[in-house]
Amino acid sequence: MSAQETMRAVVLTGHGDLDKLEYREDWPKPVAGPGEALIKVAACGLNNTDVNTRTAWYSKGVTDATTGEAFEGAADDDATWGGAAITFPRIQGADVCGVVEAVGEGADPGLVGKRVLIDTWLRDWSDPLNLDKTGYYGSEINGGYAEYTKVDQRYIHPIESDLSDAELATFATSYITAENMLNRAQVSEGDTVLIPGASGGVGSALIQLANRRGASTIAMCGADKADQVRTIGPRAVLPRSPEDLTAALRDAIGQETVTVVADVVGGAIWPQLIDVIARGGRYTCAGAIAGPIVEFDLRTFYLRDLVFTGATIVPPGVFADLVGYIARGEIKPLLAETYPLKDLREAQAAFISKRHVGNIVVTHD
Ligand SMILES: NC(=O)c1ccc[n+]([C@@H]2O[C@H](COP(=O)([O-])OP(=O)(O)OC[C@H]3O[C@@H](n4cnc5c(N)ncnc54)[C@H](OP(=O)(O)O)[C@@H]3O)[C@@H](O)[C@H]2O)c1
Repeated sequence: MSAQETMRAVVLTGHGDLDKLEYREDWPKPVAGPGEALIKVAACGLNNTDVNTRTAWYSKGVTDATTGEAFEGAADDDATWGGAAITFPRIQGADVCGVVEAVGEGADPGLVGKRVLIDTWLRDWSDPLNLDKTGYYGSEINGGYAEYTKVDQRYIHPIESDLSDAELATFATSYITAENMLNRAQVSEGDTVLIPGASGGVGSALIQLANRRGASTIAMCGADKADQVRTIGPRAVLPRSPEDLTAALRDAIGQETVTVVADVVGGAIWPQLIDVIARGGRYTCAGAIAGPIVEFDLRTFYLRDLVFTGATIVPPGVFADLVGYIARGEIKPLLAETYPLKDLREAQAAFISKRHVGNIVVTHD
């Protein structure tokens, strides 16, 4: 194979620990097919989906918090977010910022040279609103931990912004997930939204996107991250796991309940999160990083007329909304660190250790 036809990429070779991520300099460079664009990747943000897929955390046999280590006994045939098996080798990485280098037959040549972001949700274009017919970029098809990637041009969104490539690569997954959570819970002006995991990708997105709608936000995060979280404008910041959440809320905002909890954490504190939702309030959830199995008192749910919404697959249109918010400077990136692509293992180890605020991104020289 000639040098022009290969590229640098990090390839996931199977379920397991970090050693399943292999840096290669001889990986075949993709070629844009009909209707597709070839993108030179400038930066790609990290995600828990990469970690959870690698470790097989999505398997129903797993009941623990996300750890970053391979789970014993996980079933390979239900080990991705959607419940279907993943095929290896796979290039992960969903949050791409890059430049279109070429287009395939029938695709718009005007895209060449454009700086772009990629919508992470793959649709069946004959039935694009059908949520059952979706895939995830970097999971069901190859993603952005590589010098080049190719996608159907309909996933490509040109962006004009003064932000750096790495800053632009912090947004995609976290922000469309957060926006979808807020849409599902119909968050609007007048709502008070409690946000556990507020220092993370989705949590920090929830603060900014809920504030953007005129809601009031209460962040929960580790004490060492509180000052940084304050810079994105929550009304109050509470500890990550207060002994008495009701009392902590009362002390911070003078009321013991909120109208919405927007959660990606779950775990041991979960019953307290549900207890502080006011009558008729909403719980919206897109993750369970502290543990997926929780203690649920159904009486709290039905006697208080609560509404629960899960949020994963993002309907068409939300990504375009997000690109507009970024271009108009309505939300700001929280870039914690960058690593070169070849050091993806180190980048992911840092991501898993959760000492950062916002997101970590790999870049190309
Ligand atoms: N459904 C979807 O489409 C979707 C999309 C994106 C993410 N997710 C899921 O949502 C969750 C959060 O994603 P993210 O990208 O926001 O994660 P992240 O950037 O890693 O942030 C998660 C935050 O949760 C807090 N946390 C509280 N308890 C924790 C625990 N036991 N272990 C680790 N962190 C804990 C940490 O902040 P403090 O240290 O400040 O407490 C951490 O910064 C993950 O489970 C992810 O898989 C789902």
